[in-house]
Amino acid sequence: MKILLTGGAGYIGSHANKLLSSRGHETVVADNLGRGHREAVRWGRLAQVDLLDEATLDKLFEAEKFDAVMHFAALIFVGESVKHPGRYYRNNVQGSLNLLRAMRKYGVGRIIFSSTAAVYGTPETSPLPEDHTLGPINPYGWSKLMIEQTIRDFCSAYGMKAVIFRYFNAAGADPERETGEKHDPENHLIPLVLKAVRNPARSLKIFGSDYDTPDGTCVRDYIHVCDLAASHLLGVESLMEPGGEGTARVYNVGNGEGFSVREVIEATAKVTGKKPRVEQAPRRSGDAARLVASSEKLKRELGWRPEYPELVKIIEHAWAWEQTLPVD
Ligand SMILES: NC(=O)c1ccc[n+]([C@@H]2O[C@H](COP(=O)([O-])OP(=O)(O)OC[C@H]3O[C@@H](n4cnc5c(N)ncnc54)[C@H](O)[C@@H]3O)[C@@H](O)[C@H]2O)c1
Repeated sequence: MKILLTGGAGYIGSHANKLLSSRGHETVVADNLGRGHREAVRWGRLAQVDLLDEATLDKLFEAEKFDAVMHFAALIFVGESVKHPGRYYRNNVQGSLNLLRAMRKYGVGRIIFSSTAAVYGTPETSPLPEDHTLGPINPYGWSKLMIEQTIRDFCSAYGMKAVIFRYFNAAGADPERETGEKHDPENHLIPLVLKAVRNPARSLKIFGSDYDTPDGTCVRDYIHVCDLAASHLLGVESLMEPGGEGTARVYNVGNGEGFSVREVIEATAKVTGKKPRVEQAPRRSGDAARLVASSEKLKRELGWRPEYPELVKIIEHAWAWEQTLPVD
């Protein structure tokens, strides 16, 4: 297959790129490199394209005949989206609309979309199934829910086929250390703990320790980035099967087990032999006590199984990668 990966110079897209290439698929990465890294495109080809630039996007689709698109490209920071909502709706929603328009114009009918647990409202059950009430609480989550709906509408209007993956917290890194997490600024817990372990000038903030959880800190579902990549391979293979035109299937992708902030810190200490300096901070508004995925539908329908569900293994891989980066 020949697959276009938007945002393939970023964290999750680069892992998917490695996996697809290792399975003999031809990949093209479309990334504006605004938040991604040229050196992360170690497989396939890089086309430096901004999804907001329709003319360049058209040229890319004119020049290549893709079997499917994996759409990772987005701005991803919740806090930034609250401060700059216009930037998020423009980049994420308009960018996706441009991509869908180009797909339709050039007859590319299969898409996999990177959605998020942030589309759900306050969790009423744990683990959370796909039919849980939706209700994002920030522009980032809303931008993703709007794209989900746009994709559904394009599918039913134009006979396209889609798989929408709602990721929980992506974590870990390529075990061979060829790619890994490199966000700037970093605001994901595991890399923040690892950076605080490496750099004693840093401390780690724990936002709230009075939640209704066993140790009072927030519980999240950490899914190994290679297991996320594996779900994309299964997703695209399922889209290649006949039938299903006009439909968009939704799957959670998560570990199914939750780990608290303190458990992450303890597991990090096991892996690295060190504990970070910790600062207690007040709760952040909008943080649910517990956010854990049910990925039963993905297991049942696509036969997905996480290869790295253990937190220690996830942190080992993240730690091995972190040590390839300069201390900051
Ligand atoms: N990291 C997580 O835990 C997580 C969780 C849920 C969902 N997601 C979703 O997964 C996807 C990938 O996340 P990530 O962590 O790899 O992020 P990332 O920032 O590492 O990668 C995103 C990539 O998209 C590119 N990009 C952004 N806007 C673009 C545009 N207009 N045109 C071209 N390229 C553009 C960036 O340059 C970057 O390389 C995102 O859609 C994100 O919303 C991530």
